[in-house]
Amino acid sequence: MKQRSPWQRTHTCGELTIADKDQQVVLNGWIENHRHHGQIVFLDLRDRYGVTQVVVDQEAGDQQSGMAAGTFELVRRLGAEDVISVRGRVRPRGEGNVNKNRSTGEIELLVQSVTVLSEAETPPFEILDKAEANEELRMQYRYLDLRRRPLQEAMLKRARFVTAIRNFLQQHRFIDIETPILTKSTPEGARDYLVPSRVHGGKFYALPQSPQIFKQLCMVAGLDRYYQIARCFRDEDLRADRQPEFTQIDLEMSFVEEHDVLDIVEAMVVHGMRDGFGIELPQPFPRFDYFEAMDKYGCDKPDLRFDMQLIDCTALAATSDFKVFAGAVQAGGIVKGLCASGAAEKFSRKGIDELTAFVNGFGAKGLAWAKVTDKGLEGSIAKFYDGDKGKQLGAHMAAKPGDLLLFVADQKKVVHKALGELRLKVGGLLGLRDPKVFRCCWVLNFPMFEWNEDKARWQFAHNPFSAPVDWDVQDFGKDTEQIKSRAYDFVMNGWELGSGSIRIHRRELQARVFEFLGITPEQQRANFGFLLDAYKYGGPPHGGIALGVDRIVALALGREGIRDVIAFPKTAMAFDLMAEAPSEVSAEQMAELQILSTVKKPG
Ligand code: AMO
Ligand code: AMP
Repeated sequence: MKQRSPWQRTHTCGELTIADKDQQVVLNGWIENHRHHGQIVFLDLRDRYGVTQVVVDQEAGDQQSGMAAGTFELVRRLGAEDVISVRGRVRPRGEGNVNKNRSTGEIELLVQSVTVLSEAETPPFEILDKAEANEELRMQYRYLDLRRRPLQEAMLKRARFVTAIRNFLQQHRFIDIETPILTKSTPEGARDYLVPSRVHGGKFYALPQSPQIFKQLCMVAGLDRYYQIARCFRDEDLRADRQPEFTQIDLEMSFVEEHDVLDIVEAMVVHGMRDGFGIELPQPFPRFDYFEAMDKYGCDKPDLRFDMQLIDCTALAATSDFKVFAGAVQAGGIVKGLCASGAAEKFSRKGIDELTAFVNGFGAKGLAWAKVTDKGLEGSIAKFYDGDKGKQLGAHMAAKPGDLLLFVADQKKVVHKALGELRLKVGGLLGLRDPKVFRCCWVLNFPMFEWNEDKARWQFAHNPFSAPVDWDVQDFGKDTEQIKSRAYDFVMNGWELGSGSIRIHRRELQARVFEFLGITPEQQRANFGFLLDAYKYGGPPHGGIALGVDRIVALALGREGIRDVIAFPKTAMAFDLMAEAPSEVSAEQMAELQILSTVKKPG
């Protein structure tokens, strides 16, 4: 067996404790910090596992540890981020010098010798836990940014989470199956990334927006339970919670109904959050019908960290002297309100004006409000709700003195949007959206289709493979808006973290849905022919889901966006600042691919 080289570490920088007192050890790592005090130099040596204080004491070293000649001079020349090996003796830190925030805080290493493994130029920014340099610079030098502890923690916990998910799925008889990256367009609603084929001139592969069709084909193949930690590619406008390539926990099961998928995914999420992040999720996750979620929370991804539901006041408002209320009801609209518990004192007139401007931004014409006091209501609607009327409204809103009531009157869509957003805003201002609290739910039975104003046609709301709740529906053109699909979303703290459905598994129904969506028989053949063909040969009832790994990890770790939990992310312009991708390619490569560019070169 090969001998270990003398510079190789015996321990990591996060390992040594008082129990190792007087041991001779070797540590390897990066210099995080160096402080010179005359005859003594202190170094903080960092690796993935922690930081250990290293002491180079010219006098004490010479006598007690037999420090190699020249070591002190060598160490004085070292700088931040140099990679070194230090050999020395573990000793307890002096009284008053113990650092309780570090696992190695009770000890330090008294140096005998130092080997420089690699010298570092001054980095373009300091490697600090709390980043000070601008994000572009940090993305350009991502390998340096990744040295920061918060990013290392994100990588570690992300890996732990994914491993826990894999273990869980493996235990539940799911098979890890890889599906193609060079494939054909799948309809997830974004633009495709295309890859030109050299062999088939003028033809292109598409990178998968998701493994959707392949996982369904795995069901037709009889594999019964599929999963994959799948990379997906979507050319869409990027935001904090979107990247052009991202990772899904993608799974599919045969011979199942909604509750089978939901039960197993719920158990999987609970297991993953516990093992990955030490987070205990309260169970069971509430399950809402889509319309119930809209009615109660004004949106299809309710944040359940706080209650404050939308309360329907339409019946009361219809007979009100307040014209705004009665008028909205007469015009076929609704009136709904929020009761912000104990918030009356927290919002001044100016504060309420700000809330009014906020709902205006979502199309509401105004915000009616009242503060509940011992003597009755105060505020913009008080004069219409004095005496018994005020009591009646207060009772309807389950309000008590000190509460703030907020109302919007308009068409249903506007009321839900404005109040749904206002609920989140007020919840945030009242400190009810604690990032350390986690609440999940399911939203089921999404509408099957939605109207696209721009294109003036119906489009699928989830994906075109989701089955209708009523298998016997024959005519999708009738009451289209009312048709419900067997699609469901997984929601945590107001974030949509996953989507799935029970699928259509019969050829005729699938073809009819495609047809209704305006996909011609020729397009069906060209794009989904193989799926339709597969159903000729016996497709089992099946369903599944995909959860966004990046979003779950970002939420669990309380990070601002998913970039902070991806090792090598792209900018909002889908650019890799470090590798400088995308980039131009040579004329030879273009010619080989039979591609001509119409882009005008500058100059
Ligand atoms: P969907 O398109 O809803 O469903 O995607 C599922 C989950 O993937 C995550 N996600 C993203 N994360 C980061 N960046 C993006 N650009 C991005 N887009 C989506 C979200 C989302 O909830 N094939 C279906 C699933 C199925 O029906 O089984 C699908 O892909 O967390
Ligand atoms: P006005 O009668 O227009 O002065 O409005 C009286 C109060 O009703 C103000 O607080 C407005 O913000 C509010 N208001 C106006 N329109 C609406 C509406 N559609 N829904 C809720 N409140 C409204």
